[in-house]
Amino acid sequence: MPTNVRSFAKINLGLRIGALRPDGFHELRTVYQTIALHDVIRVSVGRGSGIEIRCDDSRVPTDESNTCYRIVERAMVELNATGRVMIEIEKRLPVQGGLGGASGNAVAAVLALERALKKEMSAPARLRIAAEVGSDLPLFLVGGTVLGVGRGEEVYPVPDLPAIPCVVATPEIGVSTPKAFADWDLLVSRGPQVTDKLTRPVASDRMSEFGRVLSAWLSSQSQSKYKSGRALSGVPVSKGRGRAETPLLDLVRTGIENDFEQVVFPKYPELREVKRVLVSAGAVYASLSGSGSATYGLFASREAAVKAAARLREDGIAATATTTLTRQQYWKKIFD
Ligand code: C5P
Repeated sequence: MPTNVRSFAKINLGLRIGALRPDGFHELRTVYQTIALHDVIRVSVGRGSGIEIRCDDSRVPTDESNTCYRIVERAMVELNATGRVMIEIEKRLPVQGGLGGASGNAVAAVLALERALKKEMSAPARLRIAAEVGSDLPLFLVGGTVLGVGRGEEVYPVPDLPAIPCVVATPEIGVSTPKAFADWDLLVSRGPQVTDKLTRPVASDRMSEFGRVLSAWLSSQSQSKYKSGRALSGVPVSKGRGRAETPLLDLVRTGIENDFEQVVFPKYPELREVKRVLVSAGAVYASLSGSGSATYGLFASREAAVKAAARLREDGIAATATTTLTRQQYWKKIFD
């Protein structure tokens, strides 16, 4: 019997790109948020050796370049395990999209593998091999609302936003992440005259500013929790009036933005249009996720989200109404 694991997607609530590092990666600051859209990963271990990947979607590689292959190969060594690992990927998420689909698949495969083998790695070892495979993997070992620093692979749980109705639009546009980073470097190298948003010349200043904004948000959360005497997590934003009920609004009012929009929107104006439709349909916050092309909106009610998704579909854009997942929901639903 294979072990089934849900592989959830993520969105980025703000993403700031810093300097290009000597290792070829960019310094990043972002807040990841897991959402309920998911693939399903099935893992079984039999006699023999090697790793076999099956997937009906021809766009998913089934060779050693697959993230599931790469992480399972490392995990088998780390767990000192033998056997032939069969991984089946039931693809429901868009293959290329800014939703961390392939990264989530890899983490789900490793969690399923540990269950199948009845063996566990230490948490730091799991985080290490996840980071070796890609910058977007470790967040899926935390779930909920997650701060990402370094190249995005250094992850810290932050107080969870409540479950928020959400629309994810997945236009049929493939954005190359390395190319988007290169376009950003070009934009920054052209200097502050290109855009008002780049008037601060030093990349590290922009990173420090993101840190201060986030720190102010986090401390405002704990202050209002202290003042109101109750936990924030799980309070629906739709019922919110006071500060304690609006942690999301507090966050978006800090002005968090996704830097990738500045290079991806000029190239693909359709994506700017998707964001505009989401905002005009009442989104509290709308943004490109990662380097795209997935673009999402967060809504005050499920009804508003369902309507907004329908409106995008009328325009021929694939869109789904879903919800963000708190850390607790994420871990509860993973093995359901
Ligand atoms: O880590 P991951 O495999 O997702 O990265 C894919 C590519 O995106 C990297 O090879 C690099 O070109 C770029 N990248 C980057 N800075 C980051 C993350 C990714 O330049 N923080």
